[in-house]
Amino acid sequence: MSRLRALIGPSILNADLSQLYEESQKLLNNGADYLHLDVMDGHFVPNLTFGHPIVKCLRSKIKEAFFETHMMVQNPEQWIVPMADAGVDQYTFHIEPVRNVEDVCRKIKENGMKVGVAIKPGTPVSDVEKYIDLSDMVLIMTVEPGFGGQQFMKNQMAKVQYLREQYPLLNIEVDGGVGPLTISCCADAGANMIVSGTAVIGATDQASTIKLLRDTVQT
Ligand code: DX5
Ligand code: ZN
Repeated sequence: MSRLRALIGPSILNADLSQLYEESQKLLNNGADYLHLDVMDGHFVPNLTFGHPIVKCLRSKIKEAFFETHMMVQNPEQWIVPMADAGVDQYTFHIEPVRNVEDVCRKIKENGMKVGVAIKPGTPVSDVEKYIDLSDMVLIMTVEPGFGGQQFMKNQMAKVQYLREQYPLLNIEVDGGVGPLTISCCADAGANMIVSGTAVIGATDQASTIKLLRDTVQT
């Protein structure tokens, strides 16, 4: 862990999206290392959020921050070019609906973005392991994707622990129900990229919540 940075990427899903820019800027001012932007298509998950036009608008106002899009979509290949044009830095997609994951990874890289590969709680870690060489990060979901504010699934930590043992330098992200009460489990298992939605957005003191998450991981 010592050579891997702890990075905190708040999810703006449960923020006031009519104030997307202000909410995002506030998170960055309060110490967020990157922004985790949840894109849902109503097919892969039973919910809708926003797509590349909104991301592009946000990028036009926030030039520097690292943007990760978490693509909870049925056809991730379709949105690679639009998201690259919108200024996304990392394109994280679910492997479950994809027939040729290698092709998607390659296309993301060709378009100048980092690659994140994600799995839902029911997907075995062995399914994603074969794509690690083509990726910059693995996302282990700790809730069923689709909604913020769900309960953290501690049983997913076995996947994180396994990956950390096998790949000491791999960026491993956790997402779903992560906050001050659950961060220790994530840190102990070896996650170093931490997505937190409700716990950060709803905190009375965002800066100290973000700091607490980072300090717990970076020990
Ligand atoms: C769930 C999303 C998460 C979620 C995190 O489908 O991928 O990023 O918004 O929110 P919390 O931390 O509230 O679970
Ligand atoms: Zn997410």
